[in-house]
Amino acid sequence: MSTKIRLAIFASGSGSNAEKIIDHFRQQQDIVIAKIWSNRSNAFVHERAKKLDVPSETFAKKDFKEKSFLQELKDVDYIILAGFLWLIPSYLVEAFPSKIINIHPALLPKFGGKGMYGSHVHEAVVRAGEVESGITIHLVNEEYDKGEILFQAKCEVRASDTPDDVAEKIHALEYEHFPKVIEDYIRSHKA
Ligand code: GAR
Repeated sequence: MSTKIRLAIFASGSGSNAEKIIDHFRQQQDIVIAKIWSNRSNAFVHERAKKLDVPSETFAKKDFKEKSFLQELKDVDYIILAGFLWLIPSYLVEAFPSKIINIHPALLPKFGGKGMYGSHVHEAVVRAGEVESGITIHLVNEEYDKGEILFQAKCEVRASDTPDDVAEKIHALEYEHFPKVIEDYIRSHKA
């Protein structure tokens, strides 16, 4: 039996965070990326997966909502949401207690909830005249962006910043911290 810890990454879009996570865990013997799942067959994350030689697959909403989807995850220990836009169904939260980790591109509890993803978040931050934003890495429960917070990091938002400027700063923070926070969390919860 394998003693490796196996991660599944769920991603809806470009997958630049997924790529950083894969790069990070390539250096580790005992933590591996088992598969990337996406809700979109044309998401760029599939191209990245191919390039990085990690299997990737697309699920349909109706399959994702069914408990039988757990069969697909039977060898998986943790689920990492890296820019994944669907709400995680209860059966999945129950099957992976404190083992689903999300990254959100703002300082929760501000700018979270349904519809708050990607550029919508940065637009809202700029519109509100915030002087700082940041990233939140948190455990996932049945509500959008409401699970226990594991880590936050901040960046400055200048009055002249556009949403794209903020997005760039946020991505830099994500790349710097997300893979390491995942690793530290998993290692500190190893039996
Ligand atoms: C990331 O900024 C991530 O924080 C955000 O989507 C982006 C995905 O970028 N996630 C959310 O907004 C979730 N509510 P990527 O596909 O290049 O990794």
